Amino acid sequence: MPRTIVVTSALPYANGPIHIGHLVEYVQTDIWVRFQKMCGHRCFYFCADDTHGTPVMISARAAGITPEQLIEQVHQEHREAFDRFYVQFDNYYTTHSPENKAFSELIFERLNRAGSIVKRGVEQTYCEKDQMWLPDRFVRGTCPRCGATDQYGDSCAVCGATYRPTDLVDPHCAVCGTPPVLRMSEHYFFKLSDYEQPLRDLIAAGYTQKSVANMLEEWFQAGLRDWDISRDGPYFGFKIPGEENKYFYVWLDAPIGYMASAKNYCDRHGLDFEELWNSRANELYHFIGKDIIYFHALFWPAMLIGAGIKTANKLFVHGHLTIYGEKMSKSTGTFIKASTYARHLDPEFLRYYYASKLTDLVEDIELGITDFINKTNADLVGKYANLASRSGPMLARQLESRLGTLDDEGRRLVGKLTEAKEQIVRDYEGLDYAAAVRTISALADEANRYVEHKQPWATIKTDREKTRTTLTAVLNTVKILTIYLKPILPKFAQKVEKFLSVEELSFADVERPLENRRIGAFERLFERIDEEQVTAMVEESKEGQAPPPATPVPAAVPAEPFKPECTIDDFAKIDLRVARVVTAERVPGADKLLRLILDVGGVQKNVFAGIAKAYEPEALTGKMVIFFANLKPRQMKWGLSEGMILASGSGGKDVFMLTVDPGATPGRKIS
Ligand code: 2FM
Ligand code: ZN
Repeated sequence: MPRTIVVTSALPYANGPIHIGHLVEYVQTDIWVRFQKMCGHRCFYFCADDTHGTPVMISARAAGITPEQLIEQVHQEHREAFDRFYVQFDNYYTTHSPENKAFSELIFERLNRAGSIVKRGVEQTYCEKDQMWLPDRFVRGTCPRCGATDQYGDSCAVCGATYRPTDLVDPHCAVCGTPPVLRMSEHYFFKLSDYEQPLRDLIAAGYTQKSVANMLEEWFQAGLRDWDISRDGPYFGFKIPGEENKYFYVWLDAPIGYMASAKNYCDRHGLDFEELWNSRANELYHFIGKDIIYFHALFWPAMLIGAGIKTANKLFVHGHLTIYGEKMSKSTGTFIKASTYARHLDPEFLRYYYASKLTDLVEDIELGITDFINKTNADLVGKYANLASRSGPMLARQLESRLGTLDDEGRRLVGKLTEAKEQIVRDYEGLDYAAAVRTISALADEANRYVEHKQPWATIKTDREKTRTTLTAVLNTVKILTIYLKPILPKFAQKVEKFLSVEELSFADVERPLENRRIGAFERLFERIDEEQVTAMVEESKEGQAPPPATPVPAAVPAEPFKPECTIDDFAKIDLRVARVVTAERVPGADKLLRLILDVGGVQKNVFAGIAKAYEPEALTGKMVIFFANLKPRQMKWGLSEGMILASGSGGKDVFMLTVDPGATPGRKIS
């Protein structure tokens, strides 16, 4: 029985680019939606840009454009990024839309009528120079607890303290640096606590994953507080009806943007929005990251309950992306924009990698660079593409592109792959993509082993029809694996469909073998990743990366020619030791030299050093120097020099001995 399923991903802010951290969620959702569609369900994927709020207003000001121009520009960039990664929304809209305005007003009005909105005075930080109210993140200063400087107005990144912006020592406006003032203003509040029981019921009925429900229980215990849903102008957002200078807070209209995107789609496609969104027969799911649980598990359903609109069947919460176990960072080059990634690497590699890591747990996803390269090359290139390229071109070139009939052995192999369908479907449905990938990859191993065993490259010389039978089995496994992988690898699937000359594959095609028909021309499926591609991507992502020089720098020519090259092994022969100067004296007849007696850990060495112009001998006694201990002794006319001490400088007075800590032990090796 086909289901009707509405799916959303969190709306990305319209003041920054899509990066690979965002993509965890969009890829996760897109895979699920594609999977549902491939199962024959009616599934709609809605999203939009989250356009309102102070940051967008300030970014636009800084760029000298209007917020409308900024969000339009970012909208195009976001769309391009999603297209590059094959994230296919049914509608990608904007929260700055007439539909969203109308829904926001409607929901606000209904909540007001239900008695869930109250108005009261709030003291807030205001910048008199910029003439605007400052959200907590736009006030910076010194943490009142640990003294760390340049911290946000809501929490300290160093000690984790949370506080109000007015608690900061030396608070200042993040835009202009002026100390903010406190001003009183009337705000609208949503009485969240009125909805505690219905929210508890919703969660008890399975609205979230178990671990999220546990977290919510703690929040219930701590008590639900009223939520401030208005902001004073100047603000980029929707005006509150009946108010001159008050706007809905961005987080009020953002989730309503899910509905607005659906409404806009329905209007353009002749569908009944009311039926699609509100019918109990239809399913609704929100995919979100763990940082916005509070908004989606408490505020949003409470607003909907208060306004008499259906809540989602379930929230699917995922963890965040980590790289080398850390959050993405601009300084190490791991803050990788979608567009940067796509300039260097195939987007399907990342989709596959994420899929191989995603489960239904709220755990962070670790992107290991080496693991990513290895998995891509081993699975995508070594297993799936390899299987197709070992069979397709041979059938095309040597067997007139015509598939034969499966024999018993081929049917057994194909049967094995077919049997796995139920489990794979269950894993996709349950968001355990990692399990699905493990199964698919093991099936691909099985198919590759079959090719090894059958050796079509050898049999083609002796028995063409037997080879056709073999290749028919192999290409049927290619088809089935492609169906299983299609939610993850849509572009790959499209290429395979083309070369197998089949219509768009769906899960129902798993049981329909391809026999006695022609296939099309083969095209290459994946290219191996080279480590250099990844390095180049990381380098390009580093903050403060110097732009390439405008004029090429001429090749450096040393002022003095270099000596012949020496190897690292030559260098490693040098034995450097800590030595203490026991005595130092002038050398009669050699005005540049001092004669040093060094203690090199119980052994005394005699050294003539060319430092007499730079150092008084008396000053050297007891100094800890670095001694080149295995330099071949040299007989000089004043005596035997048994090594050398290290110094630098251009000579004469300009010579500086390299010394070490006076506490160092004479004789200790320096490496
Ligand atoms: O956290 C964010 O990036 C928000 N822009 C998500 C909004 S999701 C929904 F509520 F609109
Ligand atoms: Zn300011």
